[in-house]
Amino acid sequence: MTNTVSGFSKLSKEEKINWVAKEYFSNPSEAISLIKRYWNADEKLQQLHDEFIENTLTNFYLPLGVAPNFIINGKKYTIPMAIEESSVVAAASKSAKFWSTRGGFKTTVLNTEKIGQVHFIYTGDTLKLEQFFLAIKEKCIAATEGITKNMQKRGGGILDIELKNKTHLIDNYYQLHTTFETKDSMGANFINSCLEQFAKTLKEEALLNETFSEEEKNIQIVMSILSNYVPNCIVRAEVSCKVSELAEKKIENPQDFAEKFVRAVQIAEVEPFRAVTHNKGIMNGVDAVVLATGNDFRAVEAGIHAYAARNGQYSSLSHAKIENEVFSFWMEIPLALGTVGGLTSLHPLVKFCLEMLEKPNAKELMQIVAVAGLAQNFAALRSLTTTGIQEGHMKMHLNNIINQFEATIEERVLVTNFFKHNIVSHAAVVDFIENLRK
Ligand code: MEV
Repeated sequence: MTNTVSGFSKLSKEEKINWVAKEYFSNPSEAISLIKRYWNADEKLQQLHDEFIENTLTNFYLPLGVAPNFIINGKKYTIPMAIEESSVVAAASKSAKFWSTRGGFKTTVLNTEKIGQVHFIYTGDTLKLEQFFLAIKEKCIAATEGITKNMQKRGGGILDIELKNKTHLIDNYYQLHTTFETKDSMGANFINSCLEQFAKTLKEEALLNETFSEEEKNIQIVMSILSNYVPNCIVRAEVSCKVSELAEKKIENPQDFAEKFVRAVQIAEVEPFRAVTHNKGIMNGVDAVVLATGNDFRAVEAGIHAYAARNGQYSSLSHAKIENEVFSFWMEIPLALGTVGGLTSLHPLVKFCLEMLEKPNAKELMQIVAVAGLAQNFAALRSLTTTGIQEGHMKMHLNNIINQFEATIEERVLVTNFFKHNIVSHAAVVDFIENLRK
């Protein structure tokens, strides 16, 4: 058992690395050397990354790829994707190209409302609380003036505050349920600052309120925090074309393909085990763009999965139909994203990605991200319902195994040629390489 370490955060970076290396590695100097190989030679750039979090030792690389040929509402995009999973970028690119000759992707932002809540305990008469809330609502808003000034200049701010009675769930539990418009910022800091101010005003005004008993005056604030569930911050992405236009090399019979595709989506609509994997495929695209553009993929993940379960059962985010010989495939997802603030102006590669996307505003980014998700879902379902998923996956996997074995150029050629005509499995590739080396 290792002892707990105290004052770790106060150690220098060098001391932290030495501590970790000595504590956990049989060969500390090798561990230290690995850590340092990932440092950036540009000290200023390294320092910038060091300061994003605490106790930074080094950088953790993820590949940044691009998927070109996306047409969204008639405009061409090359979409940046940061992701470790092989075949995701290839799949996105294939979908982009496929739909680029079939009308492209169409998107609409349906709404952009964000949510935050002050959770509190009030023990007493609900009617009195309701009257008190109505009397102090404007004061609550006025007290946030210093926080909301800049946001208001950009056209955003607090939309409304509602008192919600949740005593049927937990004794004496109420909320100030607040809605916000945060324009091009994700708005987490703005929302949380407003909420903490509402909580302060609520508590202070309750103490001064003469209609309250001593117990009623003593409101207990439990917490004030934004919600990552944003069911009124929705973007819609869709593709459609005549069924006959779906024909291509791998889709010989477009009618059969379209029917099977719609069936596959229906299965994800009614069967949670399939829905989770189906939606995971969507998130392959969504997360990769969210990450590349410096947004919070954990928030996006949490919000989207909650939305997928909004009707009481986890279900597919996307839908498909054939109507009047037209195939349509679409999804609506909640996305609270920012193109200003946070990492967007700090991380040089995030700035690069946003510039490549021609500096989108938050609404445009919502549309791009949703398209990446739908494209990914289309590619997955197309493979699943035609050749099977492993054909494409194993090709990329083969490359990873070759790299793992640090194959020479000659070995690489031999392995690749052999597995063009043979089934790829981890064991088969390992056997083949080991035989080569005998
Ligand atoms: C793999 O990362 C994603 C898929 O499993 C998605 C799906 O099954 O729809 C291929």
